[in-house]
Amino acid sequence: MKHKITLIPGDGIGPEVTAATLKVIEAAGIEVEWETINAGADAFEKHGQYLPDELMSSIGRTHVAIKGPISTPIGKGFSSINVALRKTLTLYANFRPIRSLLGVKSRYEGVNIIVVRENTEDLYSGLEHVVVPGVVESLKIITAEASTRIAKFAFEYARKHGRRKITSVHKANIMKLSDGLFLECVRNVARMFPEIAYEEMIVDNTCMQMVLDPKQFDVMLLENLYGDIVSDLGAGLVGGLGLVPGANLGDGCAIFEPVHGSAPKIAGKNLANPTAMLLSAVMMFQHLGEVEKAALIASAVEKVYATGKVLTADVGGSASTTEFADAVVQHLVN
Ligand code: NAI
Repeated sequence: MKHKITLIPGDGIGPEVTAATLKVIEAAGIEVEWETINAGADAFEKHGQYLPDELMSSIGRTHVAIKGPISTPIGKGFSSINVALRKTLTLYANFRPIRSLLGVKSRYEGVNIIVVRENTEDLYSGLEHVVVPGVVESLKIITAEASTRIAKFAFEYARKHGRRKITSVHKANIMKLSDGLFLECVRNVARMFPEIAYEEMIVDNTCMQMVLDPKQFDVMLLENLYGDIVSDLGAGLVGGLGLVPGANLGDGCAIFEPVHGSAPKIAGKNLANPTAMLLSAVMMFQHLGEVEKAALIASAVEKVYATGKVLTADVGGSASTTEFADAVVQHLVN
C-alpha cells in the first residue's frame, strides 16, 4: 500500500535529518507519496505565509505528517509555527518516549520513560501584553476540558501498553488554581484506572529525582511548559536531543517530529544526528500500520548503535549525518 504523507522539512538541521530519514524509508521499501510543503521563515519567502494554506489542506487530506524542526525568533518576530500547528489541528497530546539505546554512552542505563505533555494551552496560549511600560502579563490558561483529555490519553496509553505508574507533575503549591485544576482533573481520571499506580510530584523535585534516579519514572503527565522542559531533561539522561522522537496526536490527525530544535550552530554541516527524526518516522509507520517495516528500521538504528562504529559527534563519534544514514541502510539488510 502506498501511503500519502505530508512532509515538512523545517529549517536549520531539519532538511539534513529529513534527507537522511527519507533515504532509510526508501531503502526499507515503504512506498510513500510525499506532499512536501514547508512552514516557518522558508515558507514565508516562498508562499508569503508562515503556515501556508497549502500545508493545512495537505494535512487535511493526508491526516498524517512528519516534520523537521522549525526555528522561532527569540523575544520578537513571528509566533511559533510548531505551537500554531499543534493548536490549529488540536494535536492535544505530545507523546515522547525517552529510552536508553544500547551503545550510547550516558550516565544511566535502562531508562524507559514516556513523557505525555499537554499540547494546546498553559503559558503557550500566547496571550501576553504590556500592562504599563516595565510590566508585562503572560496568561497561563488551564481548562478542565484539556486537562481531563490529556489525563485520559495518558491513562489509556498506560492501560493499553501495560505501563505500571503515572506521575503527574505540577506546581500546585504555588499555582493553586491553575495547577490545582489540572491535578483535580487528573485525579478524577486516575480513579477510573485503579490498576495503574498514580503519584504526584512538584516539578522542581521532579527534575532532581530524574537526575538522581530516572528509573523510578514510568509515564510522566505534564502541562505544556513543564512537559517541554522535562522532555529535554529526559533527553539529556539518555544521550541527548539527537536521540528522542516525538508525536503530536489528536483525534483527527498526527504530526511526528523529533523533540529537538533546528540546532543552528551545526546546521548545514552534515553533523546532525538523524536518529530522533528516524525514530519519529518509526512511530509514524507504527501509527500507519506498517508495523513490520517500522520494526525493521528501529532494529537497524539499534544495530548501528550496538556496533558503535558509525556514530555522530553528539554521541561521541565522528560520522556525518549521511554516513550514519548509510550505516542504517546497511543494517536494514544485514
Ligand atoms: P535545539 O534542540 O535546536 O539545540 C539544543 C542543543 O542540542 C544544541 O547544542 C544542538 O546542537 C543540539 N542538538 C539538537 N538536535 C541535535 C541533533 N539532531 N544532532 C546533534 N545535536 C543536536 O534547541 P535550541 O537551541 O533551544 O533551539 C534552536 C531553535 O529551534 C529555536 O529557534 C527554537 O525555537 C527551535 N525549536 C524548534 C522545535 C520544533 O520545531 N519542534 C523544538 C525546539 C526548538
